[in-house]
Amino acid sequence: MSSQNRTIILIGFMGAGKTSVGRALSRRLGWPFEDLDDHIQSREGRNIEEIFRDSGEPHFRRVEHQSLRDLLSAQQPSSRILALGGGAFVQPENQELIVASGGSTVFLDAPIDELWHRCQAEEAARPLRRDLEQFRQLYEQRRPCYLRASLRVETSGKDVETIAAEVQNSLGLR
Ligand code: S3P
Repeated sequence: MSSQNRTIILIGFMGAGKTSVGRALSRRLGWPFEDLDDHIQSREGRNIEEIFRDSGEPHFRRVEHQSLRDLLSAQQPSSRILALGGGAFVQPENQELIVASGGSTVFLDAPIDELWHRCQAEEAARPLRRDLEQFRQLYEQRRPCYLRASLRVETSGKDVETIAAEVQNSLGLR
């Protein structure tokens, strides 16, 4: 990947702030922002909750993979920021695509209780967020995978702009 044409890929669990930090980073850098879940929803013409409810998780994962493939293979006129849904980086076939794309992966991390409370404060329905114990188990199962990212940023107690500035500085971007 040329330094003129970079992709920053934000990963992490539900409630990590991937979309809001992605938007803030996009404003700071003047780079376009893309959200994988938005692409999936446009492609399917229905929201995430409806996809899970009516077609199940295996279908969602197939569309997620195809959408990621399309996004990463599209000719990019400029650098960009891409936010993934919480389960996307955990799928080995998606990780392969991401590694091959040469993008910089950034893991936005936070303690489980904070992730849970952030999700509670949001309106978006999350099919894979049921109760705190199930949420914690899923996070623990996924965390080793998230730790394979090029960079981990601790987001606990920080606001979106502070996190975006930290990502920007850690990646040496002005
Ligand atoms: C998922 C997280 C969601 C969304 C879908 C599956 C997951 O995205 O992609 O509900 O497997 O953790 P957010 O992480 O943005 O909530």
